[in-house]
Amino acid sequence: MSSTVPGSPVNPSKGNMKKTDGTARPEIEVRGLHKSFGDNQVLRGIDLEIAPGEVVCVIGPSGSGKSTLLRCVNLLETPTAGQVFVGGSEVTHPDVDIDAVRRRIGMVFQQFNLFPHLSVTENLTLPQRRVLGRDKAQAAQIAAENLQRVGLSDKAGAYPSSLSGGQQQRVAIARALAMGPEVMLFDEPTSALDPELVGDVLAVMRMLADDGMTMMVVTHEMTFAREVADRVVFMDGGVIVEQGTPDQVIGNPQHDRTRHFLSRVLDPAAADVEEGKQG
Ligand SMILES: Nc1ncnc2c1ncn2[C@@H]1O[C@H](COP(=O)(O)OP(=O)(O)OP(=O)(O)O)[C@@H](O)[C@H]1O
Ligand SMILES: [Mg+2]
Repeated sequence: MSSTVPGSPVNPSKGNMKKTDGTARPEIEVRGLHKSFGDNQVLRGIDLEIAPGEVVCVIGPSGSGKSTLLRCVNLLETPTAGQVFVGGSEVTHPDVDIDAVRRRIGMVFQQFNLFPHLSVTENLTLPQRRVLGRDKAQAAQIAAENLQRVGLSDKAGAYPSSLSGGQQQRVAIARALAMGPEVMLFDEPTSALDPELVGDVLAVMRMLADDGMTMMVVTHEMTFAREVADRVVFMDGGVIVEQGTPDQVIGNPQHDRTRHFLSRVLDPAAADVEEGKQG
C-alpha cells in the first residue's frame, strides 16, 4: 500500500522496507501490558507487534483504553505490568532514560499544544534546541524542511492564533517530525477539527505513511483507516477484541462488539435511532 513519494525529502528508502512478513524485528512491541488506575483496570493484557513502516489504526469505543495504550508506549503512563519495546530496546526497563525514549517517539494529540507566544518556526526550533541540543541554524533548517513537508512554508513566521485548527495540527506534526522520531503516535489527531479541515491533516498523515513511517493512529476516521492502515486493531474493555486488515475488521468484522461499534461510527444517526427505540 505504501510507496515512496517522488521528491519526498525524508526517509525516501523506508517505504521499501515493508512490512508484516514476520521477518523484520518489530519496531513497536507490546507484551502483556496491563494498566490500572486504582481499582479501574484499563488495560487488561495487550499484546501487539508493529513492523517497521507499518501503519496500525486503533479503533474502539470511548473508555476502551486506546489513549492509555498510546501513552504507555511513550511512557506518559507507567504500565502496571508488561513490557514495551521500541526499536528492539525495552522502554519499560526500570533503568531506562525516559527522555531518550521520548526522543525516539513522536506524539500528536487531539489538542495541538503549540506555544501561543512563539511563531510557527520557533515552535519547531525550541524543542530541537532544548532537547536535542541543535544549534540555531541547524534547527531552523530542519524546521523549514518539515514545514515544507506539511505544506506550511508560508506560515513560518505566523503565530498559532492566526492559523486554522487544521494548520495548527499540521504544525504540531511538523514539530514532532523535526525531532527525527522512529515512530509516530497519533491520538485522534482530527477529532477537534471542523470537518472541512480534516482532509489536509489526513493528507499529511497519508504522506508520512507513504514515506514509510511506522505509525500507530487512534482514530474514528474509518475512510482513512480503510485506505491507509495496514492493520486495524479493535479494542474494547482494555483488550484487543480483533485485528486484521481493514477489509477484515471494518469490512467483515467477526465479533458482535466490533459490529456494534462500527454501526455507530459509520452511521451515527441510525445508531441513535436504534438506541432511542431501545431506550
Ligand atoms: N490519568 C488517569 N487517571 C485515572 N483514570 C484514567 C486516567 N487516564 C485514563 N483513565 C481511565 O481509563 C479509562 C480509559 O481511558 P482512555 O482515555 O484510555 O480511553 P479511550 O479509549 O482513549 O477513550 P476516548 O475514545 O474517549 O478517548 C477511562 O475509564 C478513563 O477514565
Ligand atoms: Mg482517547
